Amino acid sequence: RTSGDTDYYELTQRAADVEIIPGTRTQIWGYDGMFPGPLFRFRSGRQAVVRIRNGLEVPTSTHLHGGVTPPDSDGYPTDLVRPNATKDYTYPLRQRAATLWYHDHRMDYSAPQVWRGLMGMAIVADDEDDNLPLPKDDHDIPLIICDRAFADDGSFIYPALRPGPGVEAPFGNGVLGDVILVNGAPWPVLEVDASKYRFRILNASNARQYRLKLDPGGDLVQVGSDVGLLAAPVRHTEIPVSPAERFDVVVDFAAYPVGTEVTLVNTLESGDTGRVMRFKVVRPGRSAATVPDRLSAVDKLGGPVATRTFDFRAGSGDGMRMWTVNGEMFDPDKTMARPGLGTVERWRFASDFHHPVHLHLAHFQVVARDNQRPMASDAGWKDTVEVRPYEVVEVLARFDGYRGRYMLHCHNLEHEDMGMMVNFDVG
Ligand code: C2O
Ligand code: CU
Ligand code: CU
Repeated sequence: RTSGDTDYYELTQRAADVEIIPGTRTQIWGYDGMFPGPLFRFRSGRQAVVRIRNGLEVPTSTHLHGGVTPPDSDGYPTDLVRPNATKDYTYPLRQRAATLWYHDHRMDYSAPQVWRGLMGMAIVADDEDDNLPLPKDDHDIPLIICDRAFADDGSFIYPALRPGPGVEAPFGNGVLGDVILVNGAPWPVLEVDASKYRFRILNASNARQYRLKLDPGGDLVQVGSDVGLLAAPVRHTEIPVSPAERFDVVVDFAAYPVGTEVTLVNTLESGDTGRVMRFKVVRPGRSAATVPDRLSAVDKLGGPVATRTFDFRAGSGDGMRMWTVNGEMFDPDKTMARPGLGTVERWRFASDFHHPVHLHLAHFQVVARDNQRPMASDAGWKDTVEVRPYEVVEVLARFDGYRGRYMLHCHNLEHEDMGMMVNFDVG
């Protein structure tokens, strides 16, 4: 439904039986019973109001990742929608075109609830992006990549995270599955023509990192990052993709003879988890799409008014590992920073392990890794950045949008649930 500048949507979170592994049924928890959830196509400048009805037996909270959203619609971990209740989430979408996603954010339970299926993609379009000659329509395709583990009967396996009687918890570094899914399907094949395609890659895994590459070779031409177009395309032969990151890339299948099968592989693994999906070039190309040398005006952020350091570290207490930021586990009543609305701050993220660090509300630019220049894959506006072991990553973040309480956390969802999350209050 539409009225004036607002579009209305309704979604029901419910359990459903779907076929993921051929010949078996998997019970998922999905938005509208789908895994992944329905793809939203939002328009910059048009407000979206999404009514979520919780048809599950557990509370939920839905977060629009990458959205510039007022705090009461941000999916705060304790802002719960109880079973049988509904909530209207308001997304003003006064932000540029970008590939966003939405997922559950319930305190202590985001990881198992996302694992069971509570996530999906939301594409925001605008005139600037529409007017570029990039591949469009059936040549503009989401690739939502995640891993899951399955029992013989097809049900998802999610292991216990906390040690208990008879339960060891070897999953401190996050839960990995041994089956890689793209848009909810294992090892899919996409038939393509010999022309350019735009792929919106999202790593929706709880904890798995990928390093994506085409076999037998070929360029992944990046045109967008987490939150929109780059200033200019960046040519990669391999792209590291951490949980929650998005990479908008163009692949030119005219580089391969018709009949070629091109595989998207994860070079961090071998065997089944090293293969993501296949493209089969089945006919000559017919699209005239190109990648222009200039994509968008991306202003360089400067003038930080404050510098803050956040140390992401595993500690221990009571014989258990704890996942902390500046020595503390998540406390909804505490605030670790109070940036002013409209200001730019320099935030430094230090870590002892791989932590994909994510900010709600504020988008940022990566300016340094260990005082060196950032990686090619750090370009553009981002909301999530991979911080590698014993590394310090510096970003400039702009706290635009709304006043109120937001979160900074590790997007390894198990780390997040185990406390690696803090509040900041935009004033
Ligand atoms: Cu995608 Cu607070 O998370
Ligand atoms: Cu987020
Ligand atoms: Cu982490």
